[in-house]
Amino acid sequence: RTVFLRDYTPPAYLVEEVRLTFRLAPHATRVLSEIQFRPNPDAADRDFFLHGEQLKLISAHVDGAPVTPELVEGGLRLDAPDAAFTFEAEVEIDPENNTALEGLYRSNGMYCTQCEAEGFRKITFYPDRPDVMAPFHVRIESDLPVLLSNGNEVARGEGFAEWYDPWPKPSYLFALVAGDLVAHADSFTTQSGREVALNVWVREADIDKCAFAMEALKKSMKWDEEVYGREYDLDLFNIVAVDDFNMGAMENKGLNIFNSSAVLASPETATDADFERIEAIIAHEYFHNWTGNRVTCRDWFQLCLKEGLTVFRDQQFTGDMRSHPVKRIDDAMLLRSAQFREDNGPLAHPVRPESFVEINNFYTVTVYEKGAEIVGMLKRLVGDEGYRKALDLYFERHDGQAVTIEDWLKAFEDATGRDLSQFARWYHQAGTPRVHVAEDYADGTYTLTLRQETPPTPGQDDKAPVVIPVAVGLLNPNGDEVVATRVLELSEAEQSFAFEGLSTRPVASILRGFSAPVILRHEQSHETRAFLLAHDTDPFNKWEAGRDLARTGLLAMILDGAGPDAGYVDALGQAVSDEALDPAFRARLLALPGEDELAQAIFETGTAPDPTAIHAAREALRRAIAERLGDTLSRLYETHQVTGPYSPEAKDAGRRALTNAALSLLTLTQGGDRARAQYRAADNMTQQIAALGALLVIGEGEAELKAFEEQWHHERLVMNKWFGLQVAAARPEETAATAEALSRHPAFDWKNPNRFRAVFGALAGNAAGFHDPSGAGYRLLADWLLKLDPLNPQTTARMTQAFSTWKRYDEDRKRLIRAELERIAGAQGLSRDTSEMVGRMLAD
Ligand code: ARG
Ligand code: ZN
Repeated sequence: RTVFLRDYTPPAYLVEEVRLTFRLAPHATRVLSEIQFRPNPDAADRDFFLHGEQLKLISAHVDGAPVTPELVEGGLRLDAPDAAFTFEAEVEIDPENNTALEGLYRSNGMYCTQCEAEGFRKITFYPDRPDVMAPFHVRIESDLPVLLSNGNEVARGEGFAEWYDPWPKPSYLFALVAGDLVAHADSFTTQSGREVALNVWVREADIDKCAFAMEALKKSMKWDEEVYGREYDLDLFNIVAVDDFNMGAMENKGLNIFNSSAVLASPETATDADFERIEAIIAHEYFHNWTGNRVTCRDWFQLCLKEGLTVFRDQQFTGDMRSHPVKRIDDAMLLRSAQFREDNGPLAHPVRPESFVEINNFYTVTVYEKGAEIVGMLKRLVGDEGYRKALDLYFERHDGQAVTIEDWLKAFEDATGRDLSQFARWYHQAGTPRVHVAEDYADGTYTLTLRQETPPTPGQDDKAPVVIPVAVGLLNPNGDEVVATRVLELSEAEQSFAFEGLSTRPVASILRGFSAPVILRHEQSHETRAFLLAHDTDPFNKWEAGRDLARTGLLAMILDGAGPDAGYVDALGQAVSDEALDPAFRARLLALPGEDELAQAIFETGTAPDPTAIHAAREALRRAIAERLGDTLSRLYETHQVTGPYSPEAKDAGRRALTNAALSLLTLTQGGDRARAQYRAADNMTQQIAALGALLVIGEGEAELKAFEEQWHHERLVMNKWFGLQVAAARPEETAATAEALSRHPAFDWKNPNRFRAVFGALAGNAAGFHDPSGAGYRLLADWLLKLDPLNPQTTARMTQAFSTWKRYDEDRKRLIRAELERIAGAQGLSRDTSEMVGRMLAD
């Protein structure tokens, strides 16, 4: 059942054109297809196979004559002509019982689709692979008022609508929506003067939450024209919000479908972080129109071709809209907490995997975020101009094609003349490289010696050196920069770089801007780090110095029983008091490394981490910060309050991030009065939820929790926060019980992925609670995953990742987790998705 990249063969037949008719009915939708095939001149075989799953075949015809295809596992076979022909089929499907949310399904009475990666085969028989591209005609027959598909609407009448998408596309980009929806409408004029009608389609109750997404869409369209020269190519762009959705959103041609959490926002119901996420996802899906749709993937092993690049583009966009340094810090935090975790455990895989059982299991932080890091490294290595030339060539050469990572790299080689054969290892080799630093200074020359190694990962024991761009700057002991940032290219296992003509021994600032997704091993004194926190001109490394101090101090507390590091707290106090610094940046300084990140760091010292002790130490340090910096934090809290009407813009959001970071610390030592006052006064969700969270952490906030539920019980997205926050804020020994109690709440709709994740994602994310020595967290999660798996394998499989770090822990915890993994693995009828995931976690 494993699919291998090396087994790729071109499709035997290509599709010239597709006509689909949908006769919508909840339990018995009829799908009529008329597909024009022609033999692929580049294919060796004439084996005619169409994918199809969970389809009831009513009839089939070839060139108008009835045929009886051979129904085989996963599709059908037919003796097909060695010439062009028309295949027709009528099938019946059951959208109402489609709980997997893949293919055509129903969500609150509305019909919608999710076809990526392999969902189209649950709609009709088709060569459901991305290298088969065709224009689609779609006719939808239904009494529902709004009937949408890809491209432009070409006809509409009583009970039907017809759509035509002229851009050849793979089936994974097909979409259909039918429902009782209303539109927030607007328009955009492209740089060449094309008028594009824009709509965000929602249920009537949500019409007041669309304006921000619409603005984000227009900004994205303009940005892609200005920065990449990419223009939109249809007269219409539709976005639809859906409540039941496995992922964030989907870039279907001209008809993007969104998880409602990734599109709906109002000041009262969405936080600053939600607004930023929505802006980024709207941009991401829009950017896919060129990086994904116009140029698509040859096969699913090439997923990072579109996802890594599109994530990189949305990161650039967010940086331009908000703050580049803050965005870089946020991206690095995500990479470290999620991607390094994946790369250093049983689920490690290359950015371009070599094999899979279920492709949905490879929509990972490695493919997406590490994939984006690779694009960023390429850009750094070839420079901004080289990057733009390479992208222009890539689009020009491959428009309308389904291509590979080799094609992508070739465009860079041809545009810039650079040999990327060694660089390509980033795509093939799993694991996080470690870069060890040694320094030497003599006779005015500073020598930096860098050594790289990548630990083995499953199936890849031996690692070769990769090309690592290491951005470095040097500071004088008085704080002046003596050597501005330059990019060293580490390509050997070990390499030295000399900086001459220095009058004193410099302080090095290494891996500025987090220039590569590596773990830097740099022994630095406490004083040097405090110096860099105070003086580094590179904002990322300034933040990093504080982070290193915090991590080192926490490890000493956990492993050596040390007390909180007063020197660190004082340096932190200095930095956050610096009014020249962006408040959003200062908020990031106040955030300590997460518990899971600390667990990994302890594991790497050769010790089994104790999540309970990690939690206690982190809380103790937070209390010490609050005590020692009480006056500073109070002052920040008072002086950075935002006055006037709420705006989700970066400037105000940064001030709220800072005051809320201060509030959560101050509440630890000064009690809940300030938080209660903020809760009462709040006119926006950012302030309201931050205050509630601060109260719950100190075991207060009962009344507010109740009031919150009364105020928001009718708003699903807000109630997800209410569910999640209680689990996230629970004390370790009460976390599982809290999650369990919430799972009995009448509003706990476990079939809704957002609600399920709100409770059980929060359980997995509360490290000390999930890993409580009783094993109650493990058991509860496994029980619910087993319950969800038959209905929704995709979301279940994804959430099994909670267990992926199990080998770090002590024997008792290992035994408990292994038992749960084995219990899941042994379940009758376990999905392919989940069985692949638990199998990988249990292997070796
Ligand atoms: N292409 C989508 C995005 O990144 C993700 C869709 C993934 N869906 C899935 N079922 N695997 O925007
Ligand atoms: Zn994407």
